[in-house]
Amino acid sequence: MQHKILITGGAGFIGSHVVRRFLTNYPEYEIINIDKLSYAGNLENLQDVADMTNYTFIKGDIVDLQFLKKLFKKYKFTGLIHLAAESHVDRSISDPLEFIMTNMLGTANLLHVAQEYRKKNSGFLRFYHISTDEVYGSLGEKGLFTENTAYDPRSPYSASKAGSDHLVRAFYHTYNFPVVLSNCSNNYGPNQFPEKLIPLAINNIMLSKEIPVYGKGENIRDWLYVEDHAAAIDLIFHKGKPGETYNVGGNNEWKNLDLIKMLCKIMDQKLDRTEGTSERLIRFVKDRAGHDLRYAIDSSKIASELDWQPKLDFKTGLSETVNWYLKNQDWLDHILTGEYELYYDQQYSKR
Ligand code: NAD
Ligand code: DAU
Repeated sequence: MQHKILITGGAGFIGSHVVRRFLTNYPEYEIINIDKLSYAGNLENLQDVADMTNYTFIKGDIVDLQFLKKLFKKYKFTGLIHLAAESHVDRSISDPLEFIMTNMLGTANLLHVAQEYRKKNSGFLRFYHISTDEVYGSLGEKGLFTENTAYDPRSPYSASKAGSDHLVRAFYHTYNFPVVLSNCSNNYGPNQFPEKLIPLAINNIMLSKEIPVYGKGENIRDWLYVEDHAAAIDLIFHKGKPGETYNVGGNNEWKNLDLIKMLCKIMDQKLDRTEGTSERLIRFVKDRAGHDLRYAIDSSKIASELDWQPKLDFKTGLSETVNWYLKNQDWLDHILTGEYELYYDQQYSKR
C-alpha cells in the first residue's frame, strides 16, 4: 500500500522519532508533517531527513480549522498520526487554557475535518491518536493500568488528553470513523525538551546546577525508550484494530530519586568526575500540585496481539541518552536561551 500520512507534532520529541522511522522504513510512503513549532517544536530534530523526497514539512496550527480544511483539500491523505499536543504537566498547571485549546479543540478540529474528508474519500483508512497513561490517574503501591481502567485525570494536561481520547472514541461509535488509540507511559531519549525530568537533570548535571526533585522523590514512573514507543506506533498504525486502544509501557518502574541517583552515577563516569559529585547536586523542592504518585502500564494486550516488546533495557537507554546530550551541546545551546531561561526561573525560583 502506498500511504500518504499526515503526522501532527512531528517536530516534537516523540513525533520526530516517528517521522524518521516512517521515512526510513517506508520510502514508498509520503509523509507530511504539520507542526506549529511551539517552544517544544524544533526542526533541528529532523535535520538529517529534511531533504528526503518523500517528506514535506508545513508549519501550521491544529487549532486553525481553515488551515486544516485547506490541507485536506490539497493532500489526499490515507492516514493520520496525531501527536501534536501541549505535553508538560507543570506548564498545564500554570497555563491550563493553552492545553484545552490544542489538546481538545485541536483534536476536535482534526477529527471533524478528517471525517468530512473521508465522506468523499474512501481511501482515508486510519486516524491514530497518541495519548498518555496519565488519563488513568494515579495508582497506589500495587496494580497496573489496563485498557479497561476507568479514566481519572488529575492535572489540566491529563484532563485535556482524556477529553481528546473521549472525542476520538465518540467519532468511532457515532460515525464508524476508523480510529485507533494508544496510551503510553513516560518516554525518554534523544531530542526530549529539557523541561522533562531526565533531560532537565542531564543538563543541570552538565552545568553543575542543582537537580530539583519534587517532594521526597518518591513518585514512580514507568520509563520507555522513545524508539521503542515509535516501534509500537508503527505496529499500531499498520495492524491495530479499528476502535481499539493499546496501552504501551516499559515494564520499568522507577522512583524518581532512585532514577536520578542512577543518572548521577552514569554522568560522573562519563564526565570523569569523582563518584558522588553529581548526587550532591540533588535538591528536594516544593512538590508539584496534585502530583500523581505512581503510573505503571500493563502492556500485555499489545504484546499478545501485535507482538510488541520494549527492546532497550533502561541502563543502556539512559547511557545512550546521556551520550546523545553530551554530543549535541549545540542542540541544547539553541534551546537554553530566552524562553527557556524565563520558564526555568518562573518554575523553580520559588520552589
Ligand atoms: P512535545 O511537547 O515534545 O512535542 C509536541 C509537538 O506538538 C511540538 O513539536 C509542538 O510544536 C507541536 N504542537 C503543539 N501545539 C500544536 C498545535 N496547536 N498545532 C500543531 N502542532 C502543535 O511532546 P512529546 O513528548 O513528543 O509528546 C507527543 C505526544 O505524545 C503528545 O500527544 C503527548 O501527549 C503524547 N505522550 C507523550 C509521552 C511522553 O512521555 N513524552 C508519553 C505518552 C504520550
Ligand atoms: O506518563 C506519560 C507522561 O509522562 C506524558 O504524557 C507527559 O507528556 C510527560 O511529560 C510525562 O509526564 P510526567 O509529569 O510524568 O513527566 P516529567 O518528566 O515532568 O516528570 C517525571 C517525574 O519527575 C514526575 O514525578 C515529576 C518529577 N519531577 C519533574 C521535574 C520536571 C521532578 O521531581 N523534578 C522536576 O524538575
